[in-house]
Amino acid sequence: MLEKIETLKTESLAESENINSEKSLEEYRIKYLSRNGILNSLFEDFKKVDKESKGATGKSLNELKVSIQKIYDDKKANLEPDNIAGDDTTDITLPGRTFNKGTKHLINQALEEISGIFEKIGFKVYEGFEIEDEYHNFDALNTPDHHPSRDMQDTFYIDSKGKDRKYLLRTQTSSAQIRIMEKIKPPVRIISPGRVFRNEDVSSRSLAFFHQVEGLYVDRNVTFSELKGTLNYFAREYFGDSLKTRLRPSFFPFTEPSAEMDVECFLCKSKGCRVCKYTGWLEILGCGMVDPNVFETVGYDPEIFSGYAFGMGIERTLMIKHGVPDIRLFYENDIRFLKQF
Ligand code: DAH
Repeated sequence: MLEKIETLKTESLAESENINSEKSLEEYRIKYLSRNGILNSLFEDFKKVDKESKGATGKSLNELKVSIQKIYDDKKANLEPDNIAGDDTTDITLPGRTFNKGTKHLINQALEEISGIFEKIGFKVYEGFEIEDEYHNFDALNTPDHHPSRDMQDTFYIDSKGKDRKYLLRTQTSSAQIRIMEKIKPPVRIISPGRVFRNEDVSSRSLAFFHQVEGLYVDRNVTFSELKGTLNYFAREYFGDSLKTRLRPSFFPFTEPSAEMDVECFLCKSKGCRVCKYTGWLEILGCGMVDPNVFETVGYDPEIFSGYAFGMGIERTLMIKHGVPDIRLFYENDIRFLKQF
């Protein structure tokens, strides 16, 4: 064994002359110093050496180990790192490739912006359900069975066989009014953004779904003038100071009295143009004082509480605000459209 160790001393020294790269250093390490390397196997053999030779052999073996470790350490300290890029002629000083950064979809931006305007004056966001039952979408909102909006032609019903209630895709975020009033006692001050569904033919002005933002405020002594003040505040924040607004009498089953709010046409500033159909005004939302029947349905005493509600369509408003000519553009994911916002 002594002889073998002596030979390895010479060999390992000679081989070390050839270490000139990280790769050859690693090969050297694996050959001599790794777990399955030569040194370890010599130490295994050493266990079998007879007692008399143990001293001399052990000493020599240790010298070999120290020598090889030193060679390895010295080389490692002095080697230049390998050029892993090889002979590649890439110019690393060239500017990098740019990539498109995504943005929030215009609809989501609008939902957040509108909710934010109302949050500033104390409204809390409450999201209802897209799948609703007839009770929350219609009955509790004082919309009787014979109302045309309950017709199969206008509403997507869901197969509800075996269920206690008829289910549908909500046609309006107003159902969230009922959900929240069932949950909490007044005062209630919520804003509820979300998607609604109607069985409409697809055209440049309508799709089978769109988005609405609903608002509801219930407390003691809430008045119509507060509704007007709140909506005017919203219109100023969202459309800018310069546009006039007006309320027109209207009808909704769940509010009494009801109204619709118009803003001055952005394009023609009330002079009359194609967009406002020469009226000078654009309708943006429906609103009114919560009907006492609705309060009774949810267990609020209409003698004690009053409130107002409003609901607006988002796509329509955005089409007006940004001059988008076709509602389908919002959903086609055409990057040329999306990146404008
Ligand atoms: N839900 C109505 C619609 O979809 C909009 C609406 C009108 C909401 C009056 C209201 C309201 O809260 O008070 O046409």
